[in-house]
Amino acid sequence: MNTLQVELGGGRRYPIYIGSGLLTQSGLLTRHIRSRQVAIVSNTTIAPLYLDTVKTHLADHTIETVILPDGEQYKTLHYLETIFDRLLASKFSRNATLIALGGGVIGDMGGFAAACYQRGIAFIQIPTTLLAQVDSSVGGKTGVNHPLGKNMIGAFYQPQCVIADADVLDTLDDRQLSAGLAEVIKYGLIRDAAFLDWLESNMAKLLARDKAALAYAIERSCINKAEVVGEDEFESGVRATLNLGHTFGHAIETGSGYGHYLHGEAVAIGTCFAADLSQRLGWLDAADVARIVNLLKAAKLPVTPPAAMTTAQYIELMAVDKKNVDGKIRLILLEAIGKASLPVGVDLAQLTASLNAYAG
Ligand code: NAD
Ligand code: GLY
Repeated sequence: MNTLQVELGGGRRYPIYIGSGLLTQSGLLTRHIRSRQVAIVSNTTIAPLYLDTVKTHLADHTIETVILPDGEQYKTLHYLETIFDRLLASKFSRNATLIALGGGVIGDMGGFAAACYQRGIAFIQIPTTLLAQVDSSVGGKTGVNHPLGKNMIGAFYQPQCVIADADVLDTLDDRQLSAGLAEVIKYGLIRDAAFLDWLESNMAKLLARDKAALAYAIERSCINKAEVVGEDEFESGVRATLNLGHTFGHAIETGSGYGHYLHGEAVAIGTCFAADLSQRLGWLDAADVARIVNLLKAAKLPVTPPAAMTTAQYIELMAVDKKNVDGKIRLILLEAIGKASLPVGVDLAQLTASLNAYAG
């Protein structure tokens, strides 16, 4: 097992445990639980696979399980309320602990529920998708979607710990594995060119689920994420670079109906758009863009936008983004491979021209 620390300001820190067999490891989970009452939030797909294993460590606790329907379309205020209903009905106190057992949807919702319930209860992340292990479980962004915009309602709320057991990826389907690779590739593109080289050489191993390659990719991704979050927990600067491809990707997710494109798939297409725009600004050359597109394709990710969406639709949806300032759309672009820009204000004419060329 490898342990990384996310170092936050004011001496606050929490561990990310990465390895095999962590879900069955006695004492690992319970050392972070100080309450008798423990809520486990999961979904209908993950609970039958892993809930009993987690529960075996909690024999001395009062457990309440909240099993949500599976899907991005259920990441809503309505389903968040079902968590509060259950905790209140079971008289859970402010010292209770909430465990999110699942992918990014469950992690984001569980974290937001923990942030809000009685103004904040302890929270533990057990991420079960590659995407959640390399990105969403780390850093404390929690929340739900709104029909008008992705992740528009939420809070920064850090977990007590993250337990990333690579063995749970055995049951993940290939499409979900690829979706996670979109966020892995992101770290290489925004700040770790040597990791990008490694990913190009090892993509076949990752797709074949080679354990050592996966463990390395998870760890290197978490190191990158922990460094960025440690520097800028509340996204006043460098943390925004983690959103490479996300503004366009979120527009695809919202515009196509939540759940149609996987988050990682939409991010992959958004990354191609960001690369295209970076080339138009003279920052990347054609060979760089081809390199990015080829790596995403090698990870079996989509690289072209949905034909059904129009430029006007993209602009309307991209106008609802947390990076925007005074209504101006701002995007993360690439100054070079391995170096993201801070948010760049893109004027409407330039954006329209790029969207017409790229997605029209
Ligand atoms: P997800 O949570 O929907 O999980 C994908 C699918 O895999 C689901 O059907 C799930 O039930 C299933 N699944 C999960 N673990 C499994 C396992 N071990 N075996 C078999 N099936 C399993 O999707 P995701 O890609 O994990 O997360 C996407 C979400 O994460 C989006 O809502 C996105 O906005 C959010 N996100 C948040 C952050 C953040 O910083 N908070 C970062 C990136 C993405
Ligand atoms: N996934 C973006 C962030 O955590 O900031």
